[in-house]
Amino acid sequence: MDPTRRPQWPPVDLEFPTGVSRVKFGKSLALMILICFSFWVFPIRAQENAATQAQAAPGYAGADACKDCHANEYESWAKSRHWTTSNDTRGGAARQGCEACHGPGAEHVANPADTSKLFLFTKGPKEINAQCLSCHASGTQQLHVINSLHSRNDISCVSCHSAHHSETREFLLVKTQPALCYTCHQQQRAQFSMPFRHRVNEGLVQCSDCHNPHGTERPHQLRTSVTQDQVCYNCHADKRGPFVYEHEPVRTEGCTSCHVPHGSPNVHLLKMSNVNLLCLSCHTTSFASAPGAPPFHNQAAQYQACTLCHTQIHGSNTSFVLFK
Ligand code: HEC
Ligand code: HEC
Ligand code: HEC
Ligand code: HEC
Ligand code: HEC
Ligand code: HEC
Ligand code: HEC
Ligand code: HEC
Ligand code: HEC
Ligand code: HEC
Repeated sequence: MDPTRRPQWPPVDLEFPTGVSRVKFGKSLALMILICFSFWVFPIRAQENAATQAQAAPGYAGADACKDCHANEYESWAKSRHWTTSNDTRGGAARQGCEACHGPGAEHVANPADTSKLFLFTKGPKEINAQCLSCHASGTQQLHVINSLHSRNDISCVSCHSAHHSETREFLLVKTQPALCYTCHQQQRAQFSMPFRHRVNEGLVQCSDCHNPHGTERPHQLRTSVTQDQVCYNCHADKRGPFVYEHEPVRTEGCTSCHVPHGSPNVHLLKMSNVNLLCLSCHTTSFASAPGAPPFHNQAAQYQACTLCHTQIHGSNTSFVLFK
């Protein structure tokens, strides 16, 4: 698996200071366990401490205060990985539970009709993105989200993710792929229905294998391979070489100079139905009709499949003209 695809934890501003070593962390963990133990032995002192904590975070009520009135939201939160924020006190109350997303809720608890201090996800896409990115900006996946075509077209986190009503448990997606993407990308639905296609509808390959919906440095929000090259190499490693005799466009112009990535009426996802015409779109000078063309490419050869002879079309280790 691509290591950059793992969810990031801890979020950026919760990271240990660089000076904190594992040993120190281990010691403080031991200390924390000791403290927790003493809370268990002296419940009264624990209560006192909780009271001072609440004082330290004015305006916050804690997730348990929301439970009775919003049982469904509470349950969906408790089942999601956002639940882990309840065990993490490093960012204080503003980074925990419901209020990490909805803002300080004490006033609302005191007067439920008052939602003015709450963050509601009916706000604009920029505000919503900022709210989620307050924790998720450090994820390598989300690095480019601000400049992604999705963000620039007012598609926010909640167009694809739902905190409380997600269809998938993993990644909290509004819908599973590819249905999620097809809701807005109708043209791609048609492409993946072509006779020759990547089997995205069957779940063999996912849109997000090739694209990062959060944006990348590349055009079309394309991912890269582990070697920072074309994403295609992640699965078609045999095409990477290195070859003694490369076919130049494979590396320079890329796979899409000959293939369409989604779906095609042509075998092997080729751009053109006639392989010869595909080759001749670049190799005009090799043929009988062209001045200086070598004799073995006579007029008749033009009508033969080029790859019958030039079989190693992606590169060869033995033949500079890409024979076997
Ligand atoms: C266009 C749809 C779309 C948008 C918009 C979107 N996401 Fe995602 N997100 C996905 C998909 C699909 C996955 C699953 C990714 C995969 O399979 O690699 C995902 C995965 C994730 C993950 C888990 C994996 C990881 O990268 O750590 C996080 C966290 C996440 N998104 C956060 C966000 C945040 C925060 C925003 C808004 C700033 C956002 N997403 C906007 C579609 C989207
Ligand atoms: C005593 C019951 C009660 C408690 C406790 C309570 N809420 Fe509410 N909440 C409500 C009611 C009633 C509404 C609808 C208010 C309105 O729209 O006028 C509401 C509305 C909301 C909304 C807006 C929903 C929308 O569709 O606009 C959010 C978000 C919310 N509450 C979050 C919280 C959080 C977070 C907590 C805990 C900190 C919490 N609530 C605690 C009763 C409660
Ligand atoms: C990760 C951020 C996040 C957390 C944590 C979170 N919410 Fe939400 N909440 C949202 C989003 C986003 C929506 C908009 C609907 C959706 O996407 O599911 C929402 C919507 C709501 C609504 C409006 C009604 C609805 O279901 O759409 C209520 C009420 C609410 N949340 C209460 C809570 C309570 C109570 C908690 C804690 C138990 C909580 N939320 C935790 C992000 C969050
Ligand atoms: C208080 C910080 C915080 C905020 C704010 C926050 N998240 Fe998260 N998010 C987390 C943590 C922590 C995890 C769990 C990471 C892990 O388990 O590795 C997580 C996980 C996720 C995942 C991956 C879930 C999975 O099953 O892989 C998605 C998707 C996600 N968040 C989306 C969002 C969206 C959308 C918002 C805004 C509505 C948001 N988050 C707001 C802290 C936050
Ligand atoms: C096998 C890799 C791969 C998969 C899977 C894939 N794409 Fe693409 N997609 C590409 C490449 C490569 C391009 C750039 C095409 C080019 O340069 O001509 C692209 C381009 C696009 C574009 C830009 C417009 C266009 O067609 O050129 C959109 C939108 C898009 N893809 C959406 C999707 C969606 C939605 C899915 C899933 C249903 C998906 N892609 C699955 C590789 C893939
Ligand atoms: C809520 C609507 C919506 C959803 C859902 C959505 N997109 Fe998009 N997407 C857009 C819009 C709008 C654009 C920018 C305009 C365009 O190029 O179509 C865009 C742009 C893109 C592009 C860049 C196109 C280019 O020309 O460079 C890719 C790639 C893409 N989306 C892939 C995905 C994938 C993969 C998913 C599912 C995980 C997805 N989108 C889900 C609306 C959406
Ligand atoms: C996530 C893995 C994955 C990625 C990334 C990927 N492919 Fe594929 N590709 C496959 C699989 C699996 C098949 C076999 C399809 C089948 O059997 O349905 C395939 C088939 C093909 C075929 C057709 C082979 C044939 O014999 O007809 C071509 C051409 C191709 N891919 C090109 C590309 C290009 C170009 C890219 C980059 C834009 C790419 N692939 C990215 C997994 C991938
Ligand atoms: C110069 C044009 C060209 C380029 C560039 C190109 N291909 Fe191909 N590819 C072909 C042709 C032609 C075929 C069909 C070969 C045949 O007919 O035997 C093919 C077949 C394939 C096949 C199916 C048969 C096989 O050999 O496995 C895959 C998979 C494939 N290409 C992937 C890729 C990938 C990945 C890239 C980029 C790294 C790429 N191609 C770049 C022309 C090209
Ligand atoms: C996108 C343009 C492009 C396409 C399409 C293309 N080629 Fe090439 N090909 C090149 C370039 C550039 C070179 C490097 C040598 C040159 O400049 O002629 C090359 C080199 C070759 C060579 C090696 C001989 C040499 O002069 O280095 C052979 C053989 C060849 N191509 C055959 C084919 C065949 C067969 C096809 C069709 C399946 C094809 N090419 C499609 C651009 C292309
Ligand atoms: C009958 C077999 C055969 C077929 C079919 C064939 N070639 Fe060739 N090709 C050759 C031979 C033989 C050479 C020269 C090898 C040498 O010089 O050692 C060659 C050389 C080349 C070269 C490199 C020399 C140059 O002129 O730049 C290119 C490019 C090329 N072929 C493209 C094509 C294309 C495009 C097609 C299809 C339209 C095609 N070939 C069909 C046999 C064939």
